[in-house]
Amino acid sequence: MTYSVSQLLTQDITLQPLEIKGWVRTFRANRFIALNDGSTINNIQCVVDFENTDEALLKRITTGASVHIKGNLVESQGKGQTVEIQVTSIEILGDSDPDEYPIQPKKHTFEFLRENAHLRTRTNTFSAVMRLRSSLSFAVHKYFNENGFYYMHTPIVTGSDAEGAGEMFKVSALDAKNPPLTEAGDIDYSQDFFGKETNLTVSGQLEAETYAMSLGKVYTFGPTFRAENSNTSRHLAEFWMIEPEVAFMDLAGNMDLAEDFMKSVLSYVLEHNREDLEFLEKRLLDEEKTKPQAERSEMSLIDKIKFVVDNNFKRVSYTEAIDILRNCKPNKKKKFNYIIEEWGADLQSEHERFLVEKHFKCPVILFDYPADIKAFYMRLNEDGKTVRAMDILFPGIGEMVGGSQREERLDVLKEKMKALDIDEKELWWYLDLRKYGTAVHSGFGLGFERLVMFATGMGNIKDVIPYPRTPQNAEF
Ligand code: 4AD
Ligand code: MG
Repeated sequence: MTYSVSQLLTQDITLQPLEIKGWVRTFRANRFIALNDGSTINNIQCVVDFENTDEALLKRITTGASVHIKGNLVESQGKGQTVEIQVTSIEILGDSDPDEYPIQPKKHTFEFLRENAHLRTRTNTFSAVMRLRSSLSFAVHKYFNENGFYYMHTPIVTGSDAEGAGEMFKVSALDAKNPPLTEAGDIDYSQDFFGKETNLTVSGQLEAETYAMSLGKVYTFGPTFRAENSNTSRHLAEFWMIEPEVAFMDLAGNMDLAEDFMKSVLSYVLEHNREDLEFLEKRLLDEEKTKPQAERSEMSLIDKIKFVVDNNFKRVSYTEAIDILRNCKPNKKKKFNYIIEEWGADLQSEHERFLVEKHFKCPVILFDYPADIKAFYMRLNEDGKTVRAMDILFPGIGEMVGGSQREERLDVLKEKMKALDIDEKELWWYLDLRKYGTAVHSGFGLGFERLVMFATGMGNIKDVIPYPRTPQNAEF
């Protein structure tokens, strides 16, 4: 019978012949193989009877090699493990030249591992991160499924720019060297594959709204693309976004949903990914030790996650936040790069981080932003100057969620689009939702990688997605 390492270490498997396949992490004293197969952060120790094993074969047991082992599971005589395998036969499935194999059994920098992203999940840190990522995405589907949501696949190629931001990747099948031109000399997209100009989507929201207005509660969870040239530790050009959209739900309901959802998926990993979390927590503690006392985190990784799960998010209006920021020390002492002077200012990440990390010290939901700094589709408040928007800010991350109650009134929406020069003809179908059976509805978008960053304690978004796409980089 072939087992996984995880099964061998957790199940009560009595002394019996068994088989296992995996990769050698280390081979010590010509005797002890630490074998890993990805099923758990832990290795299983396989003890080779070196006196009765061919020397040429022993030489081929090197870090990175794949092996097929037959043996017996016994109680371990050594420290550090409860059981081990006494090897009766070993077959090398794939050799690995120890002089060339990039993943040596030592600490590598994350920069080096990014250049070897195809091999980096052979390290403990990255295998733990990616198991957590997998678990979190399962928890996302589980939550929505258990709460009456339908999973909807929104298109990747779109003809509309949902955020009105204009930072999109073009999708075209035209000959880039010799595109057809209109009489005015512009590229003639009517001759392109789709007969119009198309892009990779920046958000599935507008299409999700159409389904919310018939199926009631829906969500999308898919890749989104932004061609903004921001090379930060929190931005990717290709990232995964979770976007629920719910009919008859207002902004308060939207906040409740987002908070409940995040607590649920984080509880899931606390329960199901304990060993990986403990490993990452220890990694972070070691990293913290190299920092000056003042910069060290007050809470460990698991405590941080528990804190979010157990405490209410603080709900604060934009107007209150501006008052706090205007009067805070770093603003008065001009320590911010952008000094907050007036109501209406857009918040930069330095301000968001001050609010969550220094002032409130917990996740914060900011709501009712000035209409001028938010997207066209957000519901205008009765004051005529703010919209029912919400951003959820997390310690160490900044903006995790952006959402809103949507403008359901046809006339108000049309006026807004006109003011922003958005062509009604492009979004005729979106306007139809307001013509036929319109209703209050709301939704949000959560950047999945930012959630994975929070749950793993990783500091760079490039290290929580298998193959990051960023400016000047699309390797692998
Ligand atoms: O705030 P954003 O731009 O909101 C929307 O796109 C709405 N249409 C969502 C909705 O209401 N359905 O993006 C939502 C979230 C952000 O809060 C952030 O977590 C993440 O997506 N995000 C990014 N994550 C990684 N890299 C980027 N370049 C990101 N841009 C946004
Ligand atoms: Mg946003």
